[in-house]
Amino acid sequence: MTVEPGDSPTTALRLRLADALAKSGDLRTQPWRAAVEAVPREVFIPGFFERVDGPRETMWRPITPELVGAPERLELTYTDETWVTQLNHRITAFDTDVPVAGAPTSSSTLPGLVVRMLEELQVEENSRVLEIGTGTGYSTGLLSARLGAPLVTSVEVDAAVADRARKALAQAGFLPDLVTGDGLLGSPTGALYDRVIATCSVRHIPSAWVAQTRPGGLILTTMLGWLHASSGLVRLEVTGDGTAEGVFLGSTDSFMPARPHAAPPLGDDFHEWIDKIRTTERETAAGSEILDPWEGWTSLFIAQLAVPDAQLVTYGLDDGPMFDHLVDLSQRSVAILEQESAEPATVRQSGPTNLWDSVESAITRWRAAGSPSLDQFRITVTPEAQTIWFGDPQGPLSWNLPH
Ligand SMILES: C[S@@+](CC[C@H](N)C(=O)[O-])C[C@H]1O[C@@H](n2cnc3c(N)ncnc32)[C@H](O)[C@@H]1O
Repeated sequence: MTVEPGDSPTTALRLRLADALAKSGDLRTQPWRAAVEAVPREVFIPGFFERVDGPRETMWRPITPELVGAPERLELTYTDETWVTQLNHRITAFDTDVPVAGAPTSSSTLPGLVVRMLEELQVEENSRVLEIGTGTGYSTGLLSARLGAPLVTSVEVDAAVADRARKALAQAGFLPDLVTGDGLLGSPTGALYDRVIATCSVRHIPSAWVAQTRPGGLILTTMLGWLHASSGLVRLEVTGDGTAEGVFLGSTDSFMPARPHAAPPLGDDFHEWIDKIRTTERETAAGSEILDPWEGWTSLFIAQLAVPDAQLVTYGLDDGPMFDHLVDLSQRSVAILEQESAEPATVRQSGPTNLWDSVESAITRWRAAGSPSLDQFRITVTPEAQTIWFGDPQGPLSWNLPH
């Protein structure tokens, strides 16, 4: 495609984005290229937040045409960046003139990842697609441009976000089936689907997604755990009645959690009870590098499978050093890993389950198997259990997911 007189002012920007995504290897096929060239991202993100690292906490600077000028906002819109569009479930860039603190709760994912996922979804002409996490509607727009809106259903849990996406999609000329609700339940009215794609992350594969996908259909998602290990993309093929088989594609992409799957809040009394716990102490050969994603995602992923109900909290007493804590709120089990610079690390554990013993044992088995990487793991889903495994679904490197 080339820019012609009378084209939209952002046509050239869309072509530039498509070139960049093709160069990075995310955009691989002509039909998706045509979709990127056709969908005006500026309609889906009229305002958004830019991350600014403040001295004490991350702040979010609002970007709107009024605040930064139309050219700068358009220039940023067409970069390969994730732009946060909602903080704390309610604040948008139009609600503030100055940088604010907050937790991102909706965003327009970086186009490179969106497009790579769409390529990995392996759609065919006439594929019926269910998308979970409409967000701004940009990825829904790409799906609609590629397949035709009548083949696209998208579910968004947040009513205000869903409403903005509906208007943006209509403005861009797309009328897919948009559902406001919990996407973990899928959308039975449009079933059976050929493909399900999630742009929020799940702890296990919702049974509704499997039930609403035709045998031979594909489910593409990222899976999360509460130790912050990204599983990257997982693609499953539905094999029959409530069953599916999948592979981890080996990337380290992550998405915000699907709302019911996020780790529970620590609670107001956390500081009180954690400071009072009595622990047993021992040395550990499996050091804190296991919990450091930059040391290797797979060991953190293994730890997460070993203690699926534990969350990672970095915490210190008063002005003391900060240490990694594994905290299982459901049973008040805690493991505190104390490692400053000296080896070996010390672990202090408390509660009904010795969380670090479970992590250490899983890591020892994983190392004994040659430390296989994430893309060598598989996932098996049945109505009774969901298992992530390497080598043998019942072998020493197999774990059932909580669900
Ligand atoms: C990363 S954003 C989606 C990005 C979007 N696809 C785009 O292109 O703009 C994730 C979205 O998932 C939504 N979400 C979270 N939990 C959900 C759930 N259980 N069902 C449906 N949507 C959910 C969030 O509200 C958020 O808007």
